[in-house]
Amino acid sequence: MQKATLPLQRRFLVLLLSLVALGWGGYLLLGQLSPPDPYAQAVFSAAGSAERGQSIFETNCGVCHGLRGQGNIGPSLYHVSKRKSTQALIQQVVSGRTPPMPQFQPQPQEMADLLSYLETL
Ligand code: HEC
Repeated sequence: MQKATLPLQRRFLVLLLSLVALGWGGYLLLGQLSPPDPYAQAVFSAAGSAERGQSIFETNCGVCHGLRGQGNIGPSLYHVSKRKSTQALIQQVVSGRTPPMPQFQPQPQEMADLLSYLETL
């Protein structure tokens, strides 16, 4: 009895270990493709208001991009949300990687509001 069931248990163990390894590999791969970004996650989970976003925009971005986003020193932002992903828009605002555009540090709620406004342009 013992001799007959043991190989079966061993096969089951191998199967279980393979599944664990597969799951772990998949988890690592997914993690590489979309690294967890707590800030972006907080922005995504906030409900944005285009109205609030507009006033944030007029105060912080209007000088360069025009009060209505039509462009000035900075490029026009009309239809920018169709050209760029939400993630790219967030990066553009918080990274400071494209001077002279400064690095902004909006609260997740403010960023969500800004994104909602950018989507109306
Ligand atoms: C000091 C001027 C300045 C300010 C202030 C500024 N920007 Fe910019 N912005 C720029 C310039 C210049 C570029 C072009 C950068 C490049 O691609 O080299 C740009 C690019 C962008 C882009 C990418 C446009 C595209 O077509 O890819 C977005 C989106 C953007 N800005 C949003 C904002 C938002 C939102 C704010 C306010 C929170 C802001 N900017 C404030 C100057 C500014």
